[in-house]
Amino acid sequence: MNDRLKTIVDLEKYPIQDLRSQKIKELISKCNDELDQFSCSTIPNFILPQSLEVMNEELKHKIDKVYMSNKSINSYLYSKDDPLLPKNHPKRIFMERDNGYLNSDLFEKNSEMKFLYEQEELLKFISACLGVSPIYRWADPLACHAYNVMKPEGVLPWHFDSCEFTLSLMIQKPEKGGIFEYCPFIREPGNENFDEVKKVLDGDRTRVRQLKLEPGDLQIFKGRFTLHRVTKVEGNKPRYLCIPAYVLDPWRVNTPEHSEAIYGKVLPIHIERNKPRSDGLTD
Ligand SMILES: [Fe+2]
Repeated sequence: MNDRLKTIVDLEKYPIQDLRSQKIKELISKCNDELDQFSCSTIPNFILPQSLEVMNEELKHKIDKVYMSNKSINSYLYSKDDPLLPKNHPKRIFMERDNGYLNSDLFEKNSEMKFLYEQEELLKFISACLGVSPIYRWADPLACHAYNVMKPEGVLPWHFDSCEFTLSLMIQKPEKGGIFEYCPFIREPGNENFDEVKKVLDGDRTRVRQLKLEPGDLQIFKGRFTLHRVTKVEGNKPRYLCIPAYVLDPWRVNTPEHSEAIYGKVLPIHIERNKPRSDGLTD
């Protein structure tokens, strides 16, 4: 039994260290179904309350190191216009963004979140829930398990993620707003489906689903194929989340453009590993 893990995850309710236990088998089956159907699955009260407090403290302790990005950005996380594309192309639709990250390289060695991310028990459990094996921890040293900060009035517009799979761990909920919205599987490898993406950007709600996360809940999400956003945070309380991420390619990291725009800096690894993706999707 992993002594520290049991102080973070509610292992009595969710014994993730034993994937053969009946409780976990049933949970994996439910997550498989939801992820296949909706690209998203939530496990309530996964993190214990005292661990949430530790995570909140470690973020608040470094809050002045959070990089806030407020550039206008398109759904593919670029802020540069391409005038060669038709005027109404989704790549030419830029949206207001006000959202920040405490980059993973700023976490203390002994960090609660970093520890959780590095546990094999969690990796294997998530892999089973996704029905995808192997998956890997993200090699990006800034983005792999960053804390996400949305201040009052903050907004995260429609976008696709660079990594295939993310976890969202809500650690502080805003008073109002800050709702996660998503359009399951609107694109797939080799098919950007620009017409449908454009409809959503224009305000069509047909495909849009909402998810209400509570502190301690764990959301598993396929963000590379699912357009998603977070609505404006209302009230005085910021929204805090941690976003540990998993990938299919253990070598890949963010592009230099994404790293600069979202995490505020580019490291040599972003330049060395800046190669085209094999799934044919805009990155
Ligand atoms: Fe995202």
